[in-house]
Amino acid sequence: MTVSVGIIGAGHLGTRHALNLLELDEARVVAVADTDVARAADLARRCDAQAHVDYRALLDDPSLDAVYLCVPAHEHGGPELAVLERSLALFVERPLDVDLSIADRIAAEVDARGVVTATGCRWRYLDTVERAAEVLADNPARMVIGGWAARTHETAWWEDQRRMGGQLIEQTNQLVDLCRLLVGEIAQAWAVGRPTTCPPEPDVADTSAVSLRFAGGAAGSFAATPA
Ligand SMILES: NC(=O)c1ccc[n+]([C@@H]2O[C@H](COP(=O)([O-])OP(=O)(O)OC[C@H]3O[C@@H](n4cnc5c(N)ncnc54)[C@H](O)[C@@H]3O)[C@@H](O)[C@H]2O)c1
Repeated sequence: MTVSVGIIGAGHLGTRHALNLLELDEARVVAVADTDVARAADLARRCDAQAHVDYRALLDDPSLDAVYLCVPAHEHGGPELAVLERSLALFVERPLDVDLSIADRIAAEVDARGVVTATGCRWRYLDTVERAAEVLADNPARMVIGGWAARTHETAWWEDQRRMGGQLIEQTNQLVDLCRLLVGEIAQAWAVGRPTTCPPEPDVADTSAVSLRFAGGAAGSFAATPA
């Protein structure tokens, strides 16, 4: 069986996912949507797919089995709900949203529809993480230390804290996901964020320190900064 996939968001990650899908015999990319018409057209050409500016037009394609959603966090909500309304399988790049209430609404809709979903929290698929989970199953963590030092993006939405959410939400969420998998739910958190000193992003908190208390009793801390 070949799975027909639509890509919403033809930027950095959407392009990477689409090109990876082209390597699989079991998948084909049939449609690409991006509000940037040139990006949509370019990726569609590379995939031999239809290009759209509006994701709703992409979702009208009757051949679709699944959708990859690769837009910035502040653009989430509408696309997921439209995909789920059609009961299509859904892959969503992380973070799920900058607004928790929208993420909760999407999660409730996923449960109600029972469709296949996945997120871009890719560390949980590493074989080393699988091994760590085996070890921790008999010997639960008492302490967690996480660090993040990575390049920040050079896209417009990174210049706006409201749209990007800060580095903790945008990037360090990979650590949060890993901790939830290996240690359990986080019950309490205290955080300090420092606005960047790099113009033109004066309001974006790109350096942060977080103290955590896990529901199972473990204590933890994260430190994050751009590389
Ligand atoms: N899983 C990972 O390891 C990983 C790595 C990098 C980025 N990401 C995440 O992937 C997401 C996208 O990041 P990116 O680097 O590709 O950003 P990007 O800015 O390169 O691409 C985003 C694209 O979405 C398009 N877009 C915005 N709103 C849209 C809408 N309503 N409909 C259609 N297209 C729309 C933009 O025009 C742009 O082309 C971010 O949330 C980012 O955090 C995940």
